[in-house]
Amino acid sequence: MFRKWVTVAAAVTLFGALTACGSDGSSGGGDDGTITMGFAQVGAESGWRTANTKSIQEAAEKAGIELKFSDAQQKQENQIKAIRSFIQQRVDVIAFSPVVETGWDTVLLEAKRAGIPVILTDRAIDSEDESLYETFLGSDFIEEGRKAGQWLVEESEGESEVRVVELEGTTGAAPAIDRHTGFVEAIEGTNIEIIASQTGDFTRSGGKQVMEAFLKAHDDIDVVYSHNDDMGLGAIEAIEAAGKKPGEDIKIITVDAVRDGMQALADGKINFIVECNPLLGDQLMELAKKIVAGEEVPKRVLVEEDTFTREEAAEVLPDRQY
Ligand code: AHR
Repeated sequence: MFRKWVTVAAAVTLFGALTACGSDGSSGGGDDGTITMGFAQVGAESGWRTANTKSIQEAAEKAGIELKFSDAQQKQENQIKAIRSFIQQRVDVIAFSPVVETGWDTVLLEAKRAGIPVILTDRAIDSEDESLYETFLGSDFIEEGRKAGQWLVEESEGESEVRVVELEGTTGAAPAIDRHTGFVEAIEGTNIEIIASQTGDFTRSGGKQVMEAFLKAHDDIDVVYSHNDDMGLGAIEAIEAAGKKPGEDIKIITVDAVRDGMQALADGKINFIVECNPLLGDQLMELAKKIVAGEEVPKRVLVEEDTFTREEAAEVLPDRQY
């Protein structure tokens, strides 16, 4: 794959390690104008992730962007390897959804030195150096946690004590950290208490396993707060196996609003869902085109999101895209 600036060989030798930007501020694009994007996905841990991957692959095809896709199987070292391989292949732009928040500075500095712009999508990183990426496209996870907590606060008005168990996402991942933070903020000073909190790694099997352990350790659980639908669906299986009714004996709040979660909400097994929109593909391709063309883009692009009750889920389910 060619990049405009590669034609001046001597300049590459001298400055290649420092910058790959054209004199017009553009960062690449093949001779025929085709942009190549390296995308390092988290994995295939949830229904949300499957919908997100599909959205990115379809949007790339529609936009005429050549996509090099890598699945990290929820391991940071695999994502780092994929990013290094994209740098070696001299792609025009790298996009990735970081498995965890920290530990990215070295590899992102390598991308920067190679002149390859980076877009963060879905999840943010925790770095002091904002120059390591061009933009971050994704949800406000703290706000999602807040919405979950606010619903519970309103729902539990008048109750003396509400005991919550929390199914956390992948340890160290932005949505796990932020959804906890937002929820805790919303329930502060109320009669609601988190009595146990453990990671289910955003998977259905993880949610089921952790919920089984919670049910053995505590006989007075009122509410499950799950950081995604899949873990909540796993918790439903564990609750039913323990002879209790999910949604009635134990209330369930989840985040995502994928089809299976919304069906469980419409069936009364989940009580409230905060949406996290996975359909980021079109916006991502648009941003990539602008960045490669040297245009300014906002540092933060926020995704609009909703919440759903049982009635609202039943209403939107027939047209739900994911
Ligand atoms: O980063 C988004 C989160 O990752 C989704 O809520 C979850 O389902 C996924 O695995």
